[in-house]
Amino acid sequence: MMNLAQQQTKSADACPVDHAQYSKQYADLNDKLVSSPLEQDEFGVWHVHGYAEAEAVLRSDAVRQAGFRAEFLDKMPTGINPPILYLEGKPHHEQRRQTARFFTPRTTDSQYRQMMQQYADELVQEFVRRKRVDLTQLSMKMAVRVASQVVGLTNSRLPGIDRRVDRFVRRKIVENGRLAQLKKYVQTQLNLLLFFLLDIQPAIKVRRKTPREDVISHLLDSGYKNLEIVTECITYGVAGMATTREFIVVALWHILENPEYRTLMLTADQETRYGFLHELLRLEPVVGHLLRRTTAELAIESGGQTVTIPAGALIDLPVYLVNTDEQVVGERPSQVCPGREMVERKPRVADSVMSFGDGAHRCPGAYIAIQESDIFLCRLLQVEGLRIEKPPTVTYNDTVKGYEFSDFIVAVD
Ligand code: HEM
Repeated sequence: MMNLAQQQTKSADACPVDHAQYSKQYADLNDKLVSSPLEQDEFGVWHVHGYAEAEAVLRSDAVRQAGFRAEFLDKMPTGINPPILYLEGKPHHEQRRQTARFFTPRTTDSQYRQMMQQYADELVQEFVRRKRVDLTQLSMKMAVRVASQVVGLTNSRLPGIDRRVDRFVRRKIVENGRLAQLKKYVQTQLNLLLFFLLDIQPAIKVRRKTPREDVISHLLDSGYKNLEIVTECITYGVAGMATTREFIVVALWHILENPEYRTLMLTADQETRYGFLHELLRLEPVVGHLLRRTTAELAIESGGQTVTIPAGALIDLPVYLVNTDEQVVGERPSQVCPGREMVERKPRVADSVMSFGDGAHRCPGAYIAIQESDIFLCRLLQVEGLRIEKPPTVTYNDTVKGYEFSDFIVAVD
């Protein structure tokens, strides 16, 4: 095993991802605004690029979630519990406290490691047999299986839960026109019904009889109704399954294009590999923008001044920019540096900086995501002759405001 110091591989200048291609919607905006850590545009939207400023916003009690199509909540009937991502204040804190045990590093290691290893083995063996696979589909299978275990979606009536979840995550652009809109609406309702009948309903039935250590059992115990459980499952589908799938794909892409990364993944100890994966995630944040709306005036210290953001304002935090703030990540902020040491400060800067968010809504699944990515990638990279046959197609996902991959063909000779 190589230690961290030995693993300080030369930093790679070449990122295989064409950022401009999938963050076009924001590229112009960012270029114009990047000069200041905090500023307001002509539409009244506040943009936060500095790490310290972003931390202050995300840790404030005076903001609420405005990303992940938060407006979809307005369409939900009143009086029902919103999914965790949109809960705020005391009820949110309580839900996080009660579900924290499913996500600790200890649970992740002791409860899910074996399952992750077995399933990664199965998937990789199937790939070797077939000699060719679309990695975006293979990694979705992995991500869905793992998150399903945590959520409790383990009693599906038919195989194919990964495809059913994917239909919610990938929102196809709908042509204008009434007929197209109607078709889309009917399709969405049908997808929802199938997900409920084939995956969620059987899981609920089993857990009503015998509760288990998972999210659905906890929700039933808290008196959640079917509709509330459905929306929570969709939230996990987007927040936990699709995100991890995209990260596995981008990580493999980097690794296969940089032989020294492959060596690192195959020879380094776990701590070094995890550090490296966090570093990749820092530069390739799956959730490209975090959004918040102020619920009261918010005073932020920036550049020795106090800036007051009024109540009701929209705040956009482009994770790409926050994650490359030299003040906290040190030299060469835009390059992959395995073993990078963050500038010391309190509270400590996370290894992937803000790629898992910060504050009350910080991703609970961070340990799970890194552990499963590491296990799956290590298994896959052991396959001799593994190569890229076709690089992925990169598009933009408006729900996570970040990249989305499809059609990444890897093959074995
Ligand atoms: C590489 C993979 C992942 C990335 C990049 C990621 C990223 C994020 C980010 C940035 C947030 C915060 C959103 C915000 O503050 O607006 C978040 C929240 C969340 N994530 Fe993850 N995530 C990943 C994997 C997972 C996994 C594996 C799970 C569960 C099994 C999960 C479950 C959640 C949940 C439930 C929330 C909402 C938390 C709350 O609002 O309190 N995530 N994730």
